Amino acid sequence: MSFDLVIRGGTIVTASDVTKADLGIRDGIIVTIADHISGGDAVIDAGGLLVLPGGIDAHCHLDQPQAPGLASKGAKMADGFRSGSISAAYGGTTTIVPFCVQHRGTSLTAAVADYHGRAEGQSVIDYAFHLIVSDPTPAVLGQELPALIRRGHTSIKVYMTYDAMVLSDRQILDVFETARREKAVMLIHAENHEIIGWLAERLEQNGHTRPLGHAHSRPLPLEREATHRAMTLAEIAGVPLVIVHVSGGDPLDEIRRARARGHVVIAETCPQYLMLTEDDLDMPDMLGAKAMCSPPPRDTQAQAALWRGIEDGTIDIFNSDHAPYRFDGEGKLKAGPSPTFRAVANGIPGLETRLPILFSEGVVKGRIDLQRFVALTSTNNARLYGLHPRKGTIAVGSDADLALWDPERRMTITNDLLHHNVDYTPFEGLEVQGWPQTVISRGEIIVDKNELKAMPGRGRYLTQETSSAWKTREIKAWI
Ligand code: URP
Ligand code: ZN
Ligand code: ZN
Ligand code: ZN
Repeated sequence: MSFDLVIRGGTIVTASDVTKADLGIRDGIIVTIADHISGGDAVIDAGGLLVLPGGIDAHCHLDQPQAPGLASKGAKMADGFRSGSISAAYGGTTTIVPFCVQHRGTSLTAAVADYHGRAEGQSVIDYAFHLIVSDPTPAVLGQELPALIRRGHTSIKVYMTYDAMVLSDRQILDVFETARREKAVMLIHAENHEIIGWLAERLEQNGHTRPLGHAHSRPLPLEREATHRAMTLAEIAGVPLVIVHVSGGDPLDEIRRARARGHVVIAETCPQYLMLTEDDLDMPDMLGAKAMCSPPPRDTQAQAALWRGIEDGTIDIFNSDHAPYRFDGEGKLKAGPSPTFRAVANGIPGLETRLPILFSEGVVKGRIDLQRFVALTSTNNARLYGLHPRKGTIAVGSDADLALWDPERRMTITNDLLHHNVDYTPFEGLEVQGWPQTVISRGEIIVDKNELKAMPGRGRYLTQETSSAWKTREIKAWI
């Protein structure tokens, strides 16, 4: 057999195994896994390295147009598919799944066409899109959404908050009903909109307009309530539900209880909820805006609860929620130099730092093993979002998407090191152990020893199959 590339002497990690073996790659696909493979047009010596399935970041926002008329004055995302995918690749990620958003009064189909245009010719790695439905009109529910799901957009997000996106419970049920009919998996942003509005108004009236007010307007109980309500709606309509960006123990306990009742609920958390607290919002001037995301970072108790959820299997997926608003200019402070917290765009960057943070804090510190690291950062996302076994594993027949990982390399995260277009990282100064040395997408080296080797536009759009969440067990509906 001939190979375009052989990776020799590495330790291969999948969600289930750790084995020493060589990999033979041809036409972008893994074709042989064996104790020793000779030959190969090109050979990489992976001695001392871990050979991981490339990361899949299934929650990131790139070039996402903001709805008009928001308090944050249409803050612009600094990363599109080009810089976002490059930054992801440098961090060991080989597939991204950002969000294609439908704004009110517009067609979902048109939003998808527009978003394909934004991606075209830009990405260095493969990508799929989740859809965000903010206007579930009869045409969207009856025609557009079913057609798009059949075309391979099998994951759909809805919001329970944000003025421009929030759906009523009834509208959420409508979307869930279509998702059930077409076997899509639903993602939900679970925070209680009414409580946020009520608290934010009081905070502002009392002069608490600084970034910390953001955290105080979105305390954990309102996430707990929304998580419970979202799972109830999913139970009534009979759909699998992903609770994205879980920030603490209370919503996790709700998820455990729903699962114990037999419901298919998947939980995601993100690096910021493990590494930041609301103290990071309580900084001089407007610096706290750098840690403003929704839900907000909480406290050390919430961090410990999330680690327990990661260890005990309650949390299935670990994604960045990269939301690339710069601190200067067009981003966080678009509404003015010191706006009220309600006018600061929500979200923080993290595509490039996601794998190093979980490896260092999780694997190196002995909280999780290598297999679980791979499951959380790659395999579970691939299964959940209909990309497995093409993506998310190391197996004969899978795409050769790999991160050759140096488990010993120590780095101090600074924004200078990163390749996104955001002018800060909330993880500035964090010391980590473990960093990708060489990153491979469909058999091509795209990053090697901190050098980009790939041309923008080589990344391909991936159509998604039906989520594994539909296959785990029969999902009953109350209708
Ligand atoms: O604050 C956040 N998370 N911004 C990004 C959009 C979202 O809600 O996921
Ligand atoms: Zn969200
Ligand atoms: Zn507080
Ligand atoms: Zn998000």
